[in-house]
Amino acid sequence: MTERPQCAAYNRRMSPSYYQRHIFFCLNQRANNEACCAQHDAQAGLEHCKSRVKAAGINGPGGVRVNKAGCLDRCAGGPVAVVYPEAVWYHYVDQSDIDEIVDSHLIGGKVVERLLLSPDIGH
Ligand code: FES
Repeated sequence: MTERPQCAAYNRRMSPSYYQRHIFFCLNQRANNEACCAQHDAQAGLEHCKSRVKAAGINGPGGVRVNKAGCLDRCAGGPVAVVYPEAVWYHYVDQSDIDEIVDSHLIGGKVVERLLLSPDIGH
């Protein structure tokens, strides 16, 4: 596949990436009792991740950005988070799972296999 000229110019301007990695936590809440990540205290997961990333000194440009997200449409596996640029999807249960994602993936670049969200899980 040939790279479009405007993409090549964009890539030159934007490389290296502003952040090394992004992790997005779904915080979506549904009012009708359907499955959603907010039912599993996703907000606490986000806050814990933010504090761990900051304590590790890897937050900010060139490092890691922790972001909240709306529904990522994988609600049945909630709570979910996704790490880019690798596009690795996680299901976490507690703070120790978040710690492992931070230490292994966000710091070490190694995917946490045991927390991977099954590829067949959707809405
Ligand atoms: S509510 Fe979290 S993925 Fe849909």
